[in-house]
Amino acid sequence: MEENEILEELREYKQPRLLDILNKVDINKREKLIKQLSQINLKEIEKLYENIKETADVDVGELKPVKSVNPDKLSKEEFDEYEELGANVVKNNKFAVVIMAGGEGTRLGFNGPKGTFKIDVEPKPKYLFEIMADSIARANKKYGVTIPWYIMTSNKNNEQIVNFFEEHSYFGYPKEYVGFFEQGELPLITEDGQLIVDEDYNIRKAADGNGSVFKSMRDRGVIEDMKAKGIEWVYIGQIDNVLLKMVDTLLMGVAIKEKSEIGTRSILKAFPKEKVGTLCLKNGKVKVIEYSEIPEEMIEAKNENGEMLFGESNITCNLFSLNAIDKISKENLPYHKAHKKYEYMDENCKMVEPSEPNAYKFEYFIFDSFEFFSQISIVRGKREEDFAPVKNKDGVDSPETAIKLYNEYWRRHEDGRM
Ligand code: UTP
Repeated sequence: MEENEILEELREYKQPRLLDILNKVDINKREKLIKQLSQINLKEIEKLYENIKETADVDVGELKPVKSVNPDKLSKEEFDEYEELGANVVKNNKFAVVIMAGGEGTRLGFNGPKGTFKIDVEPKPKYLFEIMADSIARANKKYGVTIPWYIMTSNKNNEQIVNFFEEHSYFGYPKEYVGFFEQGELPLITEDGQLIVDEDYNIRKAADGNGSVFKSMRDRGVIEDMKAKGIEWVYIGQIDNVLLKMVDTLLMGVAIKEKSEIGTRSILKAFPKEKVGTLCLKNGKVKVIEYSEIPEEMIEAKNENGEMLFGESNITCNLFSLNAIDKISKENLPYHKAHKKYEYMDENCKMVEPSEPNAYKFEYFIFDSFEFFSQISIVRGKREEDFAPVKNKDGVDSPETAIKLYNEYWRRHEDGRM
C-alpha cells in the first residue's frame, strides 16, 4: 500500500495520535512506522474495538453438566480396551504432540520464555522444556517410536527458545523430530481505539492467545507436515503443567471409542467456587464457563452420588484429531479481551506511563474450539496425577506447589508411568 493510502486509512479509521506522531518524527522513524502500518488491517482493528464494547453473553439458563469417564470406575477390560486403542495409534506413528509456549508468563515474572524456567525438583533441577522432553522420551521408549514434537512460540520468544534448545542439545530428543512454529499476534488498542506506539517506534502487538494454535499450525505449514507424516491424532498441551501427560493413551482410546474428534482431561474442582473454568454443556455443546458465570444454586448442586454437578474443570489437556485441527484452523474463534496497563507514546512523541489500565489485549482461547463439534470426550483425571501448573511467582500454582506435586508424583511412580 502507498504511503498516502495508509494516511487516508488512518484518517478514515480514526487514528489521530498516529497521524500526529507521523507528522512529528524524522524520515527514518516515519518509514519504520509506515512499513508496519502497511501490514496492519485497520478494518480488523475497528472490529477489535467494537469487541471492547460488547459484553460476553452468558445465557446460563441452558447450562447442563457434562458427562465424563472416570477411570476409577472402569472395569479392567474397559480400561485395557481404551488403552490399547490409544496405544495402537502411537505405535503406528500416527500421533504427534504440540506444546504451546508462546505465552508471556507475566504472572510468573521470570525474565525469559516460561519453558526456560528451571524448577528445583528431585533428584535434580529441571527446565520446564526438559520436563516435557523427558516425558515424551519415556513414551518413545515404551512404545518403540519417536513422536514428532512441535513447539508453538511467539514472535517475541521464538529465537530465544530455538537457541535454548540448541544450547541444551534438545535435551537428548532427536532434533529432526522437533519443530518450532510461531503463533500470530494482534495489536493492542487503547480505550479510545488507538494503536499504541512504543519508544522504539514499534506498533505494539501481543501474542494472540493459545487458541491461535490452530490457525498458526495452518499458516506455518504444520498441518501439512503432519498430514505428510500420516499423523491422525495430536495432543496439544501447555508448557507450564509439570504433570502433563502428553501421550495420553487412555484419553485417546476413549475419544476413538466414542467417535469424538476431541478429547479433554478434566479434574474435579476442589470446591464449588474454585477459580477455574468449568466444563458445561450449553445447547448440547461443551463450553468452558467461568465459575462466576454459573448461578449460585447450580454451582452448589450435587448429583445422586454427592458429587458437584458442575465440578468438571478445564486444565487445558486436550487431544484433537488432525481432521478437527484442520477444520478449526479455518474457523474464526471469538476474541477475549484483557484490560491492562501499557506504556504508550502520546501525540507529542512523549512516553506516558498510565496509572490505571488503559488498553486492551486480545486473545483466542483454545477451548472455544470445542463448540465446533457436536460432542467431545472427557476423561476425569486427578489433581495430584495430572495438574501442577506454574503460573504465579508464589502462593497457589507457583513453582513451590508444582515442585511438591512433581516430587510426590515421582515418589508414587518410580516405574516411570507418565
Ligand atoms: P496462560 O494463559 O496461563 O498464560 O497460558 P501465560 O503466558 O503462561 O501466563 P500469564 O497469563 O501471562 O501469566 C497457558 C498456556 O498457553 C500458552 C502459554 O505458553 C501456556 O502454555 N500460550 C498462552 C501461548 O502459547 N500463546 C499465548 O498467546 C498465550
